[in-house]
Amino acid sequence: MQAAYTLRRFRPEDLHRVVYINRTCLPENYSSFFFLDLHRRFPETFIVAERDGEVVGYIMCRIETGFSNFGLRIVRKGHVISIAVLPEHRRQGIASALLREAMRGMQAYGVRECFLEVRVSNTPAIRLYQKMGFQIVRTVPRYYADGEAAYIMSRPMSLEG
Ligand code: ACO
Ligand code: ZN
Repeated sequence: MQAAYTLRRFRPEDLHRVVYINRTCLPENYSSFFFLDLHRRFPETFIVAERDGEVVGYIMCRIETGFSNFGLRIVRKGHVISIAVLPEHRRQGIASALLREAMRGMQAYGVRECFLEVRVSNTPAIRLYQKMGFQIVRTVPRYYADGEAAYIMSRPMSLEG
């Protein structure tokens, strides 16, 4: 059995490790400035998972204002920009725990709903989000640089879980 993991807020000294995980797990990569700027603006929703003193997963979010995905209102929304867990640490609940913790952080920013984009082919992530109460609200053709479409998935914050 593997040792338990712990969750905590991102710290700037985690940057190299988070960049490494992002590049290992996803084709959407960002500059150091982008990571640090999101951390500076929204520290409560940039969370890392640590195992044996090493960061093995992260979630990074941004708070935005815009139309609700559930009605014609303007609301504050928590946007999950990126989440990833290193391959050898998957299927142990780490991403679910990261998402839950980030949504807890979003409450502190007065967020009414949470949303994200995901590749339509990314079954593991889509399953994760559905399990966490997200539903597909629309499809954006050619959202990604390689031409793949995205699902927008969203959930109200008042849900349990
Ligand atoms: N196949 C089917 N369902 C899956 C899979 C899979 N490979 N992985 C996760 N799930 C579903 C299952 O329902 C799972 O529950 P279960 O294990 O009890 O069946 C549930 O999601 C929760 O899984 P976790 O263990 O919490 O997820 P994990 O820590 O493995 O991380 C993640 C999931 C983040 C999608 C991981 O596979 C990953 O890093 N993938 C590459 C990066 C990526 O695609 N990130 C999301 C991009 S979209 C965005 O960032 C907004
Ligand atoms: Zn996005």
